[in-house]
Amino acid sequence: MERIGILTSGGDAPGMNACIRAAVRAALANNLEIFGIRRGYAGLIRGEMEPLDRRSVANIIHQGGTILGTARSPEFMTSEGRATAIENLEKRGIEGLILIGGDGTFRGGTVLSQECGVSIIGVPGTIDNDVYGTDYTIGFDTAVNCALEAIDRIRDTALSHERLFFVEVMGRHTGFIALESGVAGGAEELLIPEVPMNVDELCSHLERSFKGEKKSAIVVVTEAEQPGDSFRIAQEVKAKSGFDSRVCILGHIQRGGSPTARDRVLAGKLGIAAVQALLAGKSGYMVGEVNWRVAYTPLQYTWEKEKELNVELVEMRKLLCE
Ligand code: F6P
Repeated sequence: MERIGILTSGGDAPGMNACIRAAVRAALANNLEIFGIRRGYAGLIRGEMEPLDRRSVANIIHQGGTILGTARSPEFMTSEGRATAIENLEKRGIEGLILIGGDGTFRGGTVLSQECGVSIIGVPGTIDNDVYGTDYTIGFDTAVNCALEAIDRIRDTALSHERLFFVEVMGRHTGFIALESGVAGGAEELLIPEVPMNVDELCSHLERSFKGEKKSAIVVVTEAEQPGDSFRIAQEVKAKSGFDSRVCILGHIQRGGSPTARDRVLAGKLGIAAVQALLAGKSGYMVGEVNWRVAYTPLQYTWEKEKELNVELVEMRKLLCE
């Protein structure tokens, strides 16, 4: 193998740049040429790629976002789109491709690896942490710490006004960000898809809480299909129990910012592991970290299988925070 490519796709995540840097430097150290592909699969279809050297990835380790840009590409889900992408890879003599992204990226990567002769290796990069085959995804730790800082700030004002707050965090269909930031921030309640709770239950929990010593409460909510569902929940709680509340939606703030040390280290480790996997002749796998060691998972499993929440943390929050 002499030439490889790298792209970032789907929602950006802090630490993607640290991963690009690691992969580029590991590739060059192994005498591989490496091309950066712009704007994910969309750029691959348009042939937007250029060679990267050590200097092109200098001073990016601390930067959020992705220097390569990213996109969600419906065109890549068509066979015509993929055929053009494969043609572009072949034209440039690219024999291996590193994909940094989440489950959507790996769905595309699975089909690509079945349709072309280029070796494909995935690296999990998404704030949601909803990828099977790795304990943590790149960007998750930074997003959790961002949510935690917000919860801490909200707690100050919640205490002063003796108020109920709903803090809505990202996570798409999963409650990983809500659970970790909720435990760390001492959230009184958690609304996550994995542990469904209706408004009646929520109201009776809150009533119990306020009858006790509590004068304020924070409920951390995973955003639904569209951000803003917390407003509806807050209104229903008001109608049923009379609790006045305020809603704070964190949104895309969680996707930006400088990656934490943990995310940078993980990104470095997995960036190098991706290059090594290509050199070892592997294809159609994601490199992840399980129990601190690099683990290889078939790309298909990463989005077909469901990653489970840590149930111990769910119980721990109940014991400590309610
Ligand atoms: O996949 C990461 C994520 O931030 C989800 O938590 C969120 O639902 C979605 O992306 C938002 O995507 P977009 O950038 O398209 O608004």
